[in-house]
Amino acid sequence: MQKKFIIAGNWKMHKTVEESIDFVKTLNNKIAENPDYARNNRVEILVFPPFTSLHALKGISGKTQIGSQNIFYEEKGAFTAEISPLMLKNLATYTLIGHSERRHIFGEADININKKIKTALKHSFTPLLCIGETLEEREAGNTFTKIKAQIDQDLEGLSSEAINKMVVAYEPVWAIGTGKTATPEQAQEVHAYIRELLEKKTAAFQDIPLLYGGSVKPENASDILSQKDINGALIGGASLQVEPFFAIISSSFKIVDQ
Ligand code: 13P
Repeated sequence: MQKKFIIAGNWKMHKTVEESIDFVKTLNNKIAENPDYARNNRVEILVFPPFTSLHALKGISGKTQIGSQNIFYEEKGAFTAEISPLMLKNLATYTLIGHSERRHIFGEADININKKIKTALKHSFTPLLCIGETLEEREAGNTFTKIKAQIDQDLEGLSSEAINKMVVAYEPVWAIGTGKTATPEQAQEVHAYIRELLEKKTAAFQDIPLLYGGSVKPENASDILSQKDINGALIGGASLQVEPFFAIISSSFKIVDQ
């Protein structure tokens, strides 16, 4: 089976409206100039800007897909500072759900992550669910137990048709923003396990894109993306400038062309 990739940038709490516009315009020019992109349609490029930039990117996003960094599970009401699926309509196609910073800094629980996935799907967004173990859990030998608990709780009550519309990102918490990347073998091992868990939930488990995230950079992208069960990357720091982000995209062009 030929590989397909999703290369996604999570900008977190970075970039003003003007900076977001500049980035997307420059990125689109680079994509347009690149013969590899024109030759294959197997690399999807995606960025998650802050909410304040979403409207400004409407109409200029070109080949770059736009996602929201969060979504609330209710459509409206007294939920100060939350963002409704109705507000994101026509501004985003993807939504990040359960990012480790939401879980660890803002105390987001699996039960709410599950509700957010259901709401996102109801409103036709593609949920990009993030899961991953902490350093403590890895060192205690509990990586697989944690991954299984997150998959089971976050996907609770979802039909196989619903699961088939999702993307899952494995982001070991100890590798996020630390410069410590999982080795390609460590990442592959967990991805293969996630694939196995998904096999119990849907016949189309091989087609669900599984992204790796955690200190992905131009220097390590090729080795990570070459792993069998890795279908792309979710990139924080290295997605904030066009050059390194595009270098990672270029690595994926080379691998899909092999
Ligand atoms: P870094 O690439 O900065 O480690 O961040 C990863 C991440 O959290 C992407 O969602």
